[in-house]
Amino acid sequence: MVSSNIEKALNDQVALEAFSYFQYLAMASWLDNNGFEGASKFIYNQAEEEKMHMQKLFFYINDAGGFAKAPAVPQPNHEYASLEELFKLILNHEGKVSTSIHELVNLCLQEKDFTSFNFLQWYVSEQLEEENLFRTIVDKIKMVGANTDGLYMLDKDLGRMAITPNQPLNSDMQP
Ligand code: FEO
Repeated sequence: MVSSNIEKALNDQVALEAFSYFQYLAMASWLDNNGFEGASKFIYNQAEEEKMHMQKLFFYINDAGGFAKAPAVPQPNHEYASLEELFKLILNHEGKVSTSIHELVNLCLQEKDFTSFNFLQWYVSEQLEEENLFRTIVDKIKMVGANTDGLYMLDKDLGRMAITPNQPLNSDMQP
């Protein structure tokens, strides 16, 4: 059974994943309204992943004898200066999510809650993947710069990744 400390920390993580879900929905909407149809589809998919992250934690809390609470979520930002700014914000946000997961894992070790520790390993790997993915996208956006043809192709590539997530980014640009 989870301790009250770990139950609270897990519920705080539920709130952070819920915020990620709504933040990415807001971003997908901005992208859709600003001509980035492919990136919008990609970020809608990421939003769905965040919802899954939230639910997985939610169910675990109750399975482990705690009480999962539906969180209050602050309204996310709806305006972004550019594609680059938006993806940099995501990368920064995912860094914060990773820190939060690592603190949670550390708390589990301190309290010798090896069941929750084991459960959270999935999130540790997932965060590594997400940070890596968004870092690659930010690097590609920087590389393309203000080149409209490049931006068009990158947007198409992101759209394709939304349909087949394991497809490598920027396949069109490779020789
Ligand atoms: Fe669920 Fe992207 O953190």
